Amino acid sequence: MKTLKLLFAGGALILLSASLTAQPKPWVVPANFKTMKNAVAKGDASTKAGLAVYTKNCASCHGKAGLGDGVKARALKTFPGDFAKADYQGQTDGDHFYKTKTGRGEMPKYEGKLTDDDMWNVVNYMRTFKK
Ligand code: HEC
Repeated sequence: MKTLKLLFAGGALILLSASLTAQPKPWVVPANFKTMKNAVAKGDASTKAGLAVYTKNCASCHGKAGLGDGVKARALKTFPGDFAKADYQGQTDGDHFYKTKTGRGEMPKYEGKLTDDDMWNVVNYMRTFKK
């Protein structure tokens, strides 16, 4: 009986520590952003503008190819995400725009720092990371 209790307590502890180091919480995007129409047409001009915005503002954490391995990434407590993967590329443009605009935790908020058009440019650029 005593061993059973100990086992149970041990199991609970393992579960608790696993939940503390788990993946980041789901990031809820309001419906009006989720379905928002991208204001900037995809194409060479936007990709080029987005690359400039990304290199200057985002690559330090997200890495040159969006793998979440920028020079600052090691100092972060939260994994910035892998932009080549389906869980990123499967999101809508509006999801990416909203997260860039509002930020959360260690992800900076770019509202007031970048224009909406530049946020759409960088959203378009980040589509090029798709594998
Ligand atoms: C200081 C480091 C840092 C910089 C600079 C940064 N980010 Fe992030 N970013 C993060 C972190 C950390 C997360 C994960 C946040 C979370 O889930 O709580 C994140 C998450 C994201 C997400 C959501 C990813 C997903 O899988 O849902 C997007 C989109 C994003 N960043 C875009 C950008 C863009 C665009 C820029 C530049 C304009 C940028 N980030 C600059 C650290 C950074």
